[in-house]
Amino acid sequence: MESGRIPRHVAVIMDGNGRWAKKRLLPRSLGHRAGMERMIGLSEHAFDRGVRYVTLFALSTENLARPQAELDGIFRLFRDYFTVHAETCREKGIALRVIGDLSLLPPDVAETVRRGTEAAQKGERGTLTLAIAYGGRRDIVEAANRAVREGRELREEDFSRLLSTGELPPPDLVIRTGGEKRLSNFLLFESAYAELYFSGKNFPDFGDGDLDAAIEDYASRERRFGKI
Ligand code: IPE
Ligand code: IPE
Ligand code: MG
Repeated sequence: MESGRIPRHVAVIMDGNGRWAKKRLLPRSLGHRAGMERMIGLSEHAFDRGVRYVTLFALSTENLARPQAELDGIFRLFRDYFTVHAETCREKGIALRVIGDLSLLPPDVAETVRRGTEAAQKGERGTLTLAIAYGGRRDIVEAANRAVREGRELREEDFSRLLSTGELPPPDLVIRTGGEKRLSNFLLFESAYAELYFSGKNFPDFGDGDLDAAIEDYASRERRFGKI
């Protein structure tokens, strides 16, 4: 049985940005902006609580089929995020990483994301990983293909290292905001024994206190990992 009461790795499915905007009669793009603005503050709070890794699902492979106008707005936000906010992360001692298939993004966006993460590689406070153009199944299939190309059979530990999250410990706590109770293709392999927490709040409204409540709930769970 695990005794640690603060999860080392918290993964968050950022959902409900569109509904947040709709409730305020605002365009969806402003919901995405509000969501992005919440990301750093929320991860800072997590790191202050002793969490070491925060992974945020910001854009799925399936989301890439949304209307082009919405995607263009999201890409614009990424361009800002990985310039201005990457610098903020660097100053605040947060390492910024990205997982996902950047080749699915417009090339200039992919390049900005790459440069932003290079600028903020070190972080003594914690590591913030954004999942962009990420799909759990795609990531698993890519890892399997890599193993096939190398012509080797793998054990579970070797396989996890081939995933894009290879350098991260598995998530202890997966939080989904926005009220839905599903994983929507997020960290499928890695979440095998994660504790799941669902919040009805839309992501831009998910405050530091809400994260505290999720961590408190996590602390009350007994993680058995199949044992008795
Ligand atoms: C989450 O918010 C952000 C992305 C998936 C890009 P949504 O855009 O899914 O917001 P809702 O679920 O429509 O409210
Ligand atoms: C999940 O949200 C994906 C991200 C948060 C990036 P969605 O809004 O895409 O999920 P569904 O469509 O409700 O399953
Ligand atoms: Mg959604």
